[in-house]
Amino acid sequence: MSIQPVELNKAYRLLQVGPTTMISAKNDGIENVMAAAWVGLVGNNKVMAFIGPQAFTRGLVEKSGYYVVQIPVVKQMEMVLYAGGHSYSDTPDKNSKIPLFYQKEFDLPLVEGCAGWLVCKVIPNVENEKQHNLFMGKLSEHGVMTAFSEMGTGFLMMRLMNYVLSIT
Ligand SMILES: Cc1cc2nc3c(=O)[nH]c(=O)nc-3n(C[C@H](O)[C@H](O)[C@H](O)COP(=O)(O)O)c2cc1C
Repeated sequence: MSIQPVELNKAYRLLQVGPTTMISAKNDGIENVMAAAWVGLVGNNKVMAFIGPQAFTRGLVEKSGYYVVQIPVVKQMEMVLYAGGHSYSDTPDKNSKIPLFYQKEFDLPLVEGCAGWLVCKVIPNVENEKQHNLFMGKLSEHGVMTAFSEMGTGFLMMRLMNYVLSIT
């Protein structure tokens, strides 16, 4: 076995093996969903999400202090790419193609049909957010939900999709 050096700008590929997710947020009556691959668990109750300044969703997260990370299944691949390929900024009816539902306990949009939903409360850190586009979230009092029946190969396929996107 030979050990090869990895270029620094490609090193993320060794770690980025989690599922591509969708992040949703809502503020002042406006709800939105984006695709997000740069999302990971930090410890057992915190989530770190990279939300770039191009994303309209970011403003909703900043103002509301909450975001939801959803774990899509393979049949939602097209929707994930749609959520990541369109911005609410220039397509305000974007979410008419993304079925949402709500839990009565909290006012955050959840994408229907996912394998899991992690409701995160932002732990504010201005420097990380402004300079590095990183939003640390603590798994919130609203909790984490999963639809076990939807997991399995679909879930694994989303991991594969993320891998394919990262090597191309
Ligand atoms: C597969 C995929 C993964 C993405 N991952 C991220 C990400 O981790 N962080 C990010 O800021 N944008 C990411 N994007 C881009 C956003 O989803 C995209 O900018 C989207 O249009 C933002 O939507 P919004 O402006 O309506 O919030 C990703 C896009 C795709 C297709």
